[in-house]
Amino acid sequence: MTKRLFITATGTDVGKTYITALLVKKMRQAGRNAGYYKAALSGAERKGGRLIPGDAAYVKRVAGLEPAAEEMVSYIYEAAVSPHLASELEGNPVELSIVTEDFHRICESFDYITVEGSGGILCPVRRNRLMMEDIIKALDCPVLIIAPAGLGTINDTILTIEYARSRKIEVTGVILNWFHKGDVMEEDNLRFIEEYTGVPVIACAEENARDLDIEPERLAALYR
Ligand SMILES: Nc1ncnc2c1ncn2[C@@H]1O[C@H](COP(=O)(O)OP(=O)(O)OP(=O)(O)O)[C@@H](O)[C@H]1O
Ligand SMILES: [Mg+2]
Repeated sequence: MTKRLFITATGTDVGKTYITALLVKKMRQAGRNAGYYKAALSGAERKGGRLIPGDAAYVKRVAGLEPAAEEMVSYIYEAAVSPHLASELEGNPVELSIVTEDFHRICESFDYITVEGSGGILCPVRRNRLMMEDIIKALDCPVLIIAPAGLGTINDTILTIEYARSRKIEVTGVILNWFHKGDVMEEDNLRFIEEYTGVPVIACAEENARDLDIEPERLAALYR
C-alpha cells in the first residue's frame, strides 16, 4: 500500500509547498517512488482561460514529477480565499468522495504520497460540512506540521499539535521554516516545542534552502 504523509501548517503561506517540494525531491533522489497530491487549491493563476494549480506545478518542477499538475489537484479555484468561500463564489464545492477517489487513483502510481493541505488543520473546505481535518482522517494520513521558526511559533505549533491529538490524528514531526541557525530564540523555540509535546523537529529550513538536513531513511519513516 502507498505510504502517506499529510503536510499541514500553523497557518497559510507558512511554506507547505516550498517544504513539500524539498521533501518529495529528497525522497525521489534517494530512489523512492514519491508523488504529490492536493485536494483543493485556491488563488490559482489564470493563463489563457485555464486555471494553473501553482502549488502542484511548483512541486512537479522541483521534485521532477511525471503527472500533469492538474492531475495532482482535485479542486482548483481562482479566488485567493479558503476553499469553502472560493467554491461559494465560483461553484464546484469539494466532495469528499471525489477527493478520496482522486487520492486513491494517484496512489496507484506511487509508493509514497505527500499530501499538501490548504491553510492549517482547521481550514474550512466546505461550509458546515468539511474541514481540513476531515480530509486528513478520510485519507488516513499522519501529519507533519510546517511552522515558522520565529516569534509566536511555540503557541501556534503547540495548538496545532494538541488539536490534532484531540482529534486522534497522529503528528509525526515538525519542520521549522525560515530558521536562522544560532538565533537564541529560534533555537529555544525548537527545544521548547520538542520538550513540551514530545514531537520531534525533524528539520529546519533556512531562507532559500535547496535541501533539507534530514536522512532519507528518517524521512521515509514518517510516512504510514
Ligand atoms: N525557506 C524559504 N525560503 C524562501 N522562500 C520561501 C521559503 N519558504 C516559503 N517561501 C516562499 O514563501 C511563500 C509562501 O510559501 P508557500 O507557498 O510554500 O506556503 P503554503 O503554506 O504552501 O501556502 P498555501 O497555504 O497558500 O498553500 C512562497 O512564495 C514561497 O516560495
Ligand atoms: Mg501551498
